Amino acid sequence: MHSQAGLVKSAAVQRRRQGARGCVDVRLRRDCVNVRLRRVGPATTAPRTNDDTSRHIQRSAEHHHTVTQVTSTGNPLAQTGPYGKDRRTRRPVQHADIARGTVHTAHPCGASERHKSNGTRAKGVPLSTQQVIEWTEDGRTRTAHWRSENGTPPPRRIEVADDRMPVATAHRLACEGTALLWRGDYQGARQLLTAMARRIDRGPRRAKERRAPAASPAEAFHRHRQARSRRARLLGMLLVPLDADFGIPLRRAPDVRQACAEAYGPAGGDPSVTSLPELLGLIGAHEWRRKGVKVPALGGDRVHPHYGVFSPVRGEYVDLVAEAPLPTHELAFDIGTGTGVLAAVLARRGIQRVVATDQDARALGCARENAARLGLSERIEVVEADLYPPGRAPLVVCNPPWVPARPSSPLEYAVYDPSSRMLRGFLNGLTGHLTPGGEGWLILSDLAEHLGLRPRAELLAAFATAGLTVADRLDIRPTHPRAADPTDPLHTARAAEVTSLWRLTAG
Ligand SMILES: C[S@@+](CC[C@H](N)C(=O)[O-])C[C@H]1O[C@@H](n2cnc3c(N)ncnc32)[C@H](O)[C@@H]1O
Repeated sequence: MHSQAGLVKSAAVQRRRQGARGCVDVRLRRDCVNVRLRRVGPATTAPRTNDDTSRHIQRSAEHHHTVTQVTSTGNPLAQTGPYGKDRRTRRPVQHADIARGTVHTAHPCGASERHKSNGTRAKGVPLSTQQVIEWTEDGRTRTAHWRSENGTPPPRRIEVADDRMPVATAHRLACEGTALLWRGDYQGARQLLTAMARRIDRGPRRAKERRAPAASPAEAFHRHRQARSRRARLLGMLLVPLDADFGIPLRRAPDVRQACAEAYGPAGGDPSVTSLPELLGLIGAHEWRRKGVKVPALGGDRVHPHYGVFSPVRGEYVDLVAEAPLPTHELAFDIGTGTGVLAAVLARRGIQRVVATDQDARALGCARENAARLGLSERIEVVEADLYPPGRAPLVVCNPPWVPARPSSPLEYAVYDPSSRMLRGFLNGLTGHLTPGGEGWLILSDLAEHLGLRPRAELLAAFATAGLTVADRLDIRPTHPRAADPTDPLHTARAAEVTSLWRLTAG
């Protein structure tokens, strides 16, 4: 268990205020993985295996990002009463059918409107929606702002629930499209969430999915994502209230004010409601930001990822950038810098100036903060740009999203890019941004190839179309626990995955 100083700072005060006992339960996992670094010859020839090194990389848990897509199935509970056969429930629970126009939007900025058509986050538009939800409680109509960083629309029906609600009822209501606004004990909500997750994972639908083998790796991938998406949608039906100052008005709730401010921006608006999985994601992200992610290629120094910014938790690709022979010590571009980790590695390797770009406001802030923490602000300039900054450089590095599939939420844009826009944009712009004799370093996992989503020939053809030649390729094979887990539906593809640094030259 990690120290939780940041989160629990004033939790004791809050617990006293709420007359509650107990402790905050914020857990993070860390485990070690071996990564094998392998350098191979030109891309068109068989790989060479000289220069083998093995190393340990600290791998951290993925943020608890969830993907939810709410669908409406009408409101069967409106007439029949909310609890059905639930004998443990004594008091009636109010609910509202807000499907008929009672959900309204103060500022219409749903997920699709909050992103440019090219799949990148629109500039200056906050991720949090300003949508309003409405429900009935104690005979009164209540409203609150709806918060969903993954772009989930507001639930169409809401019932108030507490610790008396059995998991079977919660699961059934979630399946029917009814969200549960929690008024009980915070830790009780966490337990209910865990129980719901278990029920979903062991349910007949999942068993049927497991029994019917997928016809192809691509089908296995799409099925897997569908199942994850459904799971996230159901779990996202468990809602928690947030006060205007981001306090949680529930017994035994942690102090999440800092975590919320980091994701949502400064407090001070109206009370709001979010899903418990989203809240847990914010808490996890806050802890990662506070503790940082250790980067062996930075001599063990850490980068501190901000909420929603791609984090080098599976950092084997960073080693490729640390090992590849540098064509310059003068200037490099880092396209799509995220936390700024690759820019920092290049600067630490002695490159005098690195211009790091990103389109995401959170990434830009995060990269600047990390450069400052590492004492590299003088050498790393972080600029907002769509792909390239103006000018040319002798080295251009890019680690674009590697899976050509539709992201299920805005938080997945760093991994999924359905039309490979960033990859193609990087390749097609490279010759125009390299100085003579310069190199472009493309970092790309071949997972998409093993999933049948993008053949290797397509990548090689894209190099040729962009006027690029492969000078060399360095490969690294991740050995994180998931790659070795035979029960993972994508095990075959994950076990075969190799991440490469392609050294590309013009001509
Ligand atoms: C896979 S992440 C890589 C982050 C970082 N370079 C690393 O290796 O950890 C891709 C990054 O590219 C950024 N990005 C996506 N499209 C972009 C574009 N058109 N121009 C600049 N950055 C972009 C994303 O915001 C994200 O930070």
